[in-house]
Amino acid sequence: PASARRDARGVLQVGGVDATELAERFGTPLYVLDETEVREHARRTVAAFRTAAARHGALARVYYAGKAFLSTEVVRWVTSEGMSVDVCSGGELEIALAAGMEPAHIGFHGNNKSTAELERAVEVGVGTIVLDSIIELERLAAIVQRHGYTQDVLLRVRSGVHAETHEFLATAHEDQKFGIAMEDAPAVVARIREIEGLRFLGLHCHIGSQIFGVAGFAESASRLVDLHAELLADGPVPLLNVGGGFGIAYTSADDPNTIEELAAGIANAVAQECEVRGIRVPELAVEPGRAIVGQAGVTLYEVGTVKPVLLEGGEATRTYVSVDGGMSDNARPALYGADYTVTLASRDGDDEPVLVRVVGKHCESGDIVVDRGYLPADIAPGDLVAVPATGAYCFSLASNYNYVTRPAVVAVADGRARVIVRGETLADLLSRDAGILPEGTRMPE
Ligand code: LLP
Repeated sequence: PASARRDARGVLQVGGVDATELAERFGTPLYVLDETEVREHARRTVAAFRTAAARHGALARVYYAGKAFLSTEVVRWVTSEGMSVDVCSGGELEIALAAGMEPAHIGFHGNNKSTAELERAVEVGVGTIVLDSIIELERLAAIVQRHGYTQDVLLRVRSGVHAETHEFLATAHEDQKFGIAMEDAPAVVARIREIEGLRFLGLHCHIGSQIFGVAGFAESASRLVDLHAELLADGPVPLLNVGGGFGIAYTSADDPNTIEELAAGIANAVAQECEVRGIRVPELAVEPGRAIVGQAGVTLYEVGTVKPVLLEGGEATRTYVSVDGGMSDNARPALYGADYTVTLASRDGDDEPVLVRVVGKHCESGDIVVDRGYLPADIAPGDLVAVPATGAYCFSLASNYNYVTRPAVVAVADGRARVIVRGETLADLLSRDAGILPEGTRMPE
């Protein structure tokens, strides 16, 4: 987080709270989220898109993609800064509702929403449902007709733009599961418009995640506008949602655009194509997740073992630093080869930095937290280390692999810390096993 500093003793502070104090009070591993920074990103993103759209006489609707990190507190922070919230499962929907947010400001996504999930969404009055298939369209049609509701919907399409990112993070090229082909859209939209109880709001597309540069978004946006213009011939199309996916810096090698540059680039691309088509600029919607929370999070771990290992060739060594978490609290290195950095958090490291690989406690050699990092040579058990930029897709992708409990999330702001999601206990883990015997009893011989 931007608020990270070191005090005179070299202890890392986040949001004005000592990392050592956080570890003592809440244990490790610990997800720390800087509330001030999340709010700042939310506010700035809303302002950037509203300003960029207003330049073309249009409105902007900025959703927070909850999949990056969702808890009731975070919902309250981002909504109070003017964001709507995008959810992609019944579970995420319940968290957003439990936060007390206005259902009309929720958007509901996903390529395979169940009938039960759609029913719940329609009943509570979510603002928009993003339709992902013809089967889902008919599923939703049956629900709104049964209950006599009216529901705003978007249609997700594949713009064909292949975002330059990890294969698993790219979503708008043809051969993948999301959305429908652009050329099929007119017929599907015609069907939506036929159904009483469904109101067609516009198109949706998301080209992928952790994308740098404006070009991919701009290209996708102008292709969408072409289709949007075509659809205007048979009825209103008030909105265009160009998705999220704005990249952030995980290491110094990453050089993302500012949110203002992205907003201007996207809005200009939309406006330019609208002008070519001779249509009004529609309300613009975006839905970033990572860009709101990613940088605002840091994970604290305690070092357990330190082990120098001879590298191939036999000269140099790499120091394996094992921490008390790993791929269960941050699956991204294992899943996407994601890079992170590491820093000593509990003291000044005077010693020369050495090449380290920070690894977790799981039974896999791919259980890597930081593949290549530098820590002082005297790094030792009991030291606290911090891995920055872990606010997005770490908590939300966490697992119980190896029956490891998932860490707590603590929010820091103005020198104060409080738990916003409690850590899991062993009792939580055991509670799901249907065969647990009463304490003190043994398996029958
Ligand atoms: N909208 C839709 C329809 C999405 O599928 C996603 C992300 C977003 C918005 C938000 O994307 P963001 O702004 O956060 O990049 N687990 C992966 C990322 C998966 C993204 C899935 N969809 C990771 O850890 O990098």
